[in-house]
Amino acid sequence: MKVLITGGAGFVGTNLALDLLESDYDVKIIDDLSTGLKENIPVGAEFINQSITDINQIKEVIKDCEVVVHLGARGSVPRSIKNPIATHDVNSTGTLNVLEAARQNGSHYIFSSSSSVYGSNKTLPKNEEMILRPMTPYAASKLSGEALSLAYAKSYDLPVSVFRFFNIFGPWQRPDHEYAAVLPKWINKCLQGEEIEIFGDGEQTRDFTYVGTVVKIISSCISNKVLHPEPVNLAYGNNISLNQVITILKKSFPNLEVRYSQTRSGDILHSKNDPKLINSLYSEISVKNFEDSLLETIEWFKSKKK
Ligand SMILES: NC(=O)c1ccc[n+]([C@@H]2O[C@H](COP(=O)([O-])OP(=O)(O)OC[C@H]3O[C@@H](n4cnc5c(N)ncnc54)[C@H](O)[C@@H]3O)[C@@H](O)[C@H]2O)c1
Repeated sequence: MKVLITGGAGFVGTNLALDLLESDYDVKIIDDLSTGLKENIPVGAEFINQSITDINQIKEVIKDCEVVVHLGARGSVPRSIKNPIATHDVNSTGTLNVLEAARQNGSHYIFSSSSSVYGSNKTLPKNEEMILRPMTPYAASKLSGEALSLAYAKSYDLPVSVFRFFNIFGPWQRPDHEYAAVLPKWINKCLQGEEIEIFGDGEQTRDFTYVGTVVKIISSCISNKVLHPEPVNLAYGNNISLNQVITILKKSFPNLEVRYSQTRSGDILHSKNDPKLINSLYSEISVKNFEDSLLETIEWFKSKKK
């Protein structure tokens, strides 16, 4: 079976491609390398350096693929606030293009949305029944992607699976660009012997999800063709504070120094999912605990540095 991964040169895509190749799938990747790295594309994966904003390209590329995992996106909330049109072009119109190509080909289509769609809804823990109130162009673009995906499932009987990712971390995540996520950025700083800055008192929490778990879920979704009529939150109810992260980092970097600065306006204080639905749909998936996953990730970054 051949799987097309859009955005396959990115963080989640690289991990997924490695896993699928190991399980003897054929893997094709389409990525415009805007944040993804060519050198991270695993040996054995076919690579097409194109943008999903070109509908003719994506229609051509998908032709021999039974499944498409749509990860390609212009990530980052601040980036979307700076340039909402570019975010819309890739995340909304690009998603429509991928859907149209999947429809033409009858491919199982798997979409990666984001917990940011909850926006101003502060109720915790999150579940799939709650109202969605995006607060940024990025979140709105992801919600439009969800809506289009579900509309294609209903209108064209397309096999569709929609996941909402929370804060994913693990190997292959880039620490080195302007909009890098907090964990790879901090691990990188530790490796350079630099101080870490926390905005606020460090008690803000995130539902961090290990990329290995995300990959296991997507692989299971592909091999068992798990379809669900609504989006499914992919997070396990971790409630990890940034101060807890620091405590774990100090096990590997005892000399780590931390500076606390003023809270940034707009930062969400807490994020946590109720994992009832994901557990019921994917009861066979075992989830590694946060500390072990973070220590494994640190070791990966150390070995990469060597
Ligand atoms: N990592 C997380 O914590 C997280 C959280 C919520 C949602 N998501 C979503 O999951 C998906 C994967 O996330 P990630 O962390 O691997 O992101 P990433 O930025 O590492 O990967 C995205 C990939 O898409 C590619 N891309 C961007 N624009 C493109 C275009 N026009 N055409 C083709 N390729 C393009 C990039 O070059 C990159 O390789 C994204 O859709 C992201 O929005 C991720």
